[in-house]
Amino acid sequence: MADKVAVQAEKLAALLDEKRVFPPSEEFRRQANAPDPAIYTKAGRSLEDFWAEEASRLDWFKQWDKVLEWNTPWAKWFVGGKLNVTHNCVDRHAASARRNKAAIVWEGEPGDARVLTFGMLAREVNRFANALKSLGVKKGDRVAIYLGMTPELPIAMLACAKIGAPHSIVFGGFSADSLRERINDAKAKVLITADGAWRRGAVVPLKASADQALEGTPSIEKVVVAERVGKAAHVTMQSGRDLWWKDLVANASDKCDAEPMDAEDMLYILYTSGTTGKPKGVVHTTAGYLVGVSATHRYIFDIKETDVFWCTADIGWVTGHSYIVYGPLANGTTTLMYEGTPDYPDRGRFWAIVAKYGVNVLYTAPTAIRTFMRWGADWPAKHDLSSLRVLGTVGEPINPEAWIWYHENIGRGRCPIVDTWWQTETGMILITPLPGLTRTKPGSATRPFPGVEAEVLDDKGQPVGPGAGGYLVLTRPWPAMFRTIYGDPDRYVKQYWSRYPGKYFTGDGAKVDADGYFWLLGRVDDVMNVAGHRISTYEVESALVDHASVAEAAVIGRSHDVKGQGIASFVTLKEGVQATDQLKEELKAHVAKKIGAIARPDDIFFTSELPKTRSAKIMRRLLRDIAEGRILGDTTTLADPTVVSNLKQQYEEEGKSD
Ligand code: PRX
Repeated sequence: MADKVAVQAEKLAALLDEKRVFPPSEEFRRQANAPDPAIYTKAGRSLEDFWAEEASRLDWFKQWDKVLEWNTPWAKWFVGGKLNVTHNCVDRHAASARRNKAAIVWEGEPGDARVLTFGMLAREVNRFANALKSLGVKKGDRVAIYLGMTPELPIAMLACAKIGAPHSIVFGGFSADSLRERINDAKAKVLITADGAWRRGAVVPLKASADQALEGTPSIEKVVVAERVGKAAHVTMQSGRDLWWKDLVANASDKCDAEPMDAEDMLYILYTSGTTGKPKGVVHTTAGYLVGVSATHRYIFDIKETDVFWCTADIGWVTGHSYIVYGPLANGTTTLMYEGTPDYPDRGRFWAIVAKYGVNVLYTAPTAIRTFMRWGADWPAKHDLSSLRVLGTVGEPINPEAWIWYHENIGRGRCPIVDTWWQTETGMILITPLPGLTRTKPGSATRPFPGVEAEVLDDKGQPVGPGAGGYLVLTRPWPAMFRTIYGDPDRYVKQYWSRYPGKYFTGDGAKVDADGYFWLLGRVDDVMNVAGHRISTYEVESALVDHASVAEAAVIGRSHDVKGQGIASFVTLKEGVQATDQLKEELKAHVAKKIGAIARPDDIFFTSELPKTRSAKIMRRLLRDIAEGRILGDTTTLADPTVVSNLKQQYEEEGKSD
């Protein structure tokens, strides 16, 4: 790991030619939700008081007895409190002056649209909650959701939360195998899916993939199928198991009491990639999560009552859970969701949406910004973007060049940019500017959110000095932190809390500059970040060796101009198998089929041997050096040093496969 940090720090130094600092304008500061730097000192002095004040903005069925119980690494927040997430996100607004305010503004890829007010959303959620009850779903039962970006997705989530059934959402781009694995780990009772989803005018066959997944999922009793694409999906329904959404809700009552949930009851499970082949079920609970996501949403995006907030993530990832659904709706904010891709029907689609709905706050990913840069500034220039007030980014480090482009071409020089660092595990944003307070530096996520404490440590657990690279850890609990790994508490302790006892190990490299600003440097473990998606090298390796022609595979993330990282695979074939370009394509397709298109390797490189240590460990570091054309690191520990020089020569001669 240590050498990975050194390489990252080197890369970063090269990027730091950008020296400009961007203070918030006086005009922005004056109207900001957090205009006073005392917010940091206040939260630093008493974490409990700070979060209790934020929690008091929610509706509680029963007030908590104690804000925090911290038995490292086990946290309980708002102990003894009772509340319901859906009551807070929907019902209380539906019962207020916000009743006829837009809650969800949905834009379909083909151009259809739907607006649900808080009143309408409350009724839809209640109908579906009653439908779930009619299928036998009770408090504590897990419900798997495999849907595209249509309103049924947040409706299904909120219905689950209303009756206390934890949901487990599986991103619609995942394969049947990935879906099956997640359903089985969570032992979900019901699956909610759709006939299909639209993507660039083509049908994503969700139900067909679900059918394949369901061949090996004994816990699933019923499948609910929403209609999105109609006949084009060619769906087959299994009688006794599969039910159409519209039939189920047709006669369901639109009244449903909210289940009073304990503060620490599970709200959802969300699977993410770790350093092994098996995805981890990250568990988030009720009160702390909702307090954390609503407070961060309000302060970091400077949310106002009339704002339209657009987070462009898919709800299948944590960003969508926290900042399309739970955070915004808890704050009574109008949240926009878009079904499709940014280049359909043309490369101006995002900007057309901003103009059409008057989006005020836009939250997207560096990989998207780099794509827009490539497409050119003419696309956004065609649209009226004057409604925008705040811009956000998330998912990977943003290179200063992309930051400046975003600032100039989308924010038109007026909008503060918040570069927000967090993870599936953290549930909420943890390192970020506050837009009315922070002087931003392009490429830095700046500083921990009030009440959050972070450090950068060396291998021995000592804080590194300003400018030096190290491992990012968090030293105080925060309310939206995950509570465990579903079904595997040992892994929770081992993976996150054991490397530096008592401190949360993030898996990221970082450095702190002389002003105390944090600069994120990327993962230090075997997790890749491909277009903002977390993918484990082991998952891709397992998919490759699953192919009949492959003997051994080593996968690394290498720098990629648009995606941040691309997936490079070094593959040795079984005796007698011919290394052909056709086989490369077949292997790429195989990985996409096993995991999902997001894990499709960019390069496949055939080699007769992989560099290994004398204890037979594959030296990924050397493969990374080869793939990125760097001078090779130390090869003295290799069993056979000539393997690397041969491989390097061969790699350079053949070039990358794409
Ligand atoms: O490496 C960090 C990167 O994304 C990882 C978390 O991925 P995931 O759990 O999928 O959640 C993504 C969205 C919250 C982190 O360990 N990451 C996320 N945001 C940033 C980032 N790296 C640098 N800067 C960021 N703003």
